[in-house]
Amino acid sequence: MSSLPISTAIRGRFLDIRQIVVQPTDLAHQVRYLEDGLLITEQGKIVWFGPWQEGQTQLPAGILVEHYPEQLIVPGFIDTHIHYPQSEMVGAYGEQLLSWLNTYTFPTEMQFENPKHASKIAHFFVEELLRNGTTTALVFCTVHPQSVDALFEQAAQYQMRLIAGKVMMDRNAPEALCDTAQSSYEDSRALIEKWHGKGRALYAITPRFAPTSTPEQLQLAGKLKTEFPDVYIHTHLSENLDEIAWVKELFPEQQGYLEVYHHYGLTGERSVFAHCVHLQEQEWDCLHQSKSAIAFCPTSNLFLGSGLFPLSKTWQKQVKVGLGTDIGAGTSFSLLQTANEAYKVQQLQGNKLSALEAFYHATLGGARALNLEDKLGNFDLGKEADFIVLDLKATTLQKLRQEHSKGLEDSLFALFTLGDDRNVEATYIYGQKAYSKAEPV
Ligand code: GUN
Ligand code: ZN
Repeated sequence: MSSLPISTAIRGRFLDIRQIVVQPTDLAHQVRYLEDGLLITEQGKIVWFGPWQEGQTQLPAGILVEHYPEQLIVPGFIDTHIHYPQSEMVGAYGEQLLSWLNTYTFPTEMQFENPKHASKIAHFFVEELLRNGTTTALVFCTVHPQSVDALFEQAAQYQMRLIAGKVMMDRNAPEALCDTAQSSYEDSRALIEKWHGKGRALYAITPRFAPTSTPEQLQLAGKLKTEFPDVYIHTHLSENLDEIAWVKELFPEQQGYLEVYHHYGLTGERSVFAHCVHLQEQEWDCLHQSKSAIAFCPTSNLFLGSGLFPLSKTWQKQVKVGLGTDIGAGTSFSLLQTANEAYKVQQLQGNKLSALEAFYHATLGGARALNLEDKLGNFDLGKEADFIVLDLKATTLQKLRQEHSKGLEDSLFALFTLGDDRNVEATYIYGQKAYSKAEPV
């Protein structure tokens, strides 16, 4: 959008987490809840946040205050792993990872050779993120450079902070979906120069996963990272047992799956590894030491029967983690539904995922996993003004449940358990309303 309104002022109930924590038990001290608060944005950034009583004098002259007295206003949700080209294939029946890829995913992704198809799905995808209250995502495109253009063009319409990249894949996939080591390097490089840092767009070097890349391709991915150190690395790791056995066969000289990526310089503070369900102890240590992050994708791990992610290990080993929907192996765009399934995955392992911890992972913790905690994740002054307005009583069951809530945490837990896109009343991106449930913006 070309012109930003200079200021926006929002009044209502606000909830966020003040600071990064090292243990979930610290979260209770970092909760910031304002029963009647005011947020003022200017040129997309937060310039004032505090109690309404104190804030009234700060209001720019003549500004219209948008008041949400009943709702809950929280930082926009952050999805740390999603595939936009797979939007149309959610709920593909019956397979686990490797046959799911061959049977459903690769044919679906072939269509993105056509830029018109890419634009159509990218448009759907960005609108769907907004409808679900997701304001930032780390996104897989397909092998086709035009699939990246299509997505960043759509995101630019809303000035959305998206991180995305072209899939690099030069073996073990249909010919029509394969690039070469050299072409993937050149195409990725051109896309970095075109998009990285343009507006709010950021680029991720995106080798699909070790089995679909030759050592030459991974080596060139690492070279690209040294040439552009502030771009991201985004890939999959240790999702499925057959996948892990296959990586062992393909890279016998490496100690383990993560070692393949580490060897080629693909770990680091802007590296995000989706899944990590079946890691070895030394792989946890490597993720910690390299400051790499994990995207925990519970709806996907359950849908593909991949396994149960041990979330408590991320605290124990101090590894950064965010929530990922992993559409289209995941089954919902909603981070609320993703947290709901995350809770159940922890239950099956004897762990408790509290409402506050889920909220942290969906907001500030997710921002940290993407190395964006200085820009996103809470209402600190100077941060980018991405936030959402939630109606906690969007259905008859939610209304009944919320009327019997035993306080803020219980209310938040019920929101995560029962909530989805129906709860998102409005989504603001960079200080501007980008989605409204009640009326088209
Ligand atoms: N591993 C490699 N590619 C994919 C993909 O598209 N989805 C999931 N869930 N895992 C993968
Ligand atoms: Zn994925």
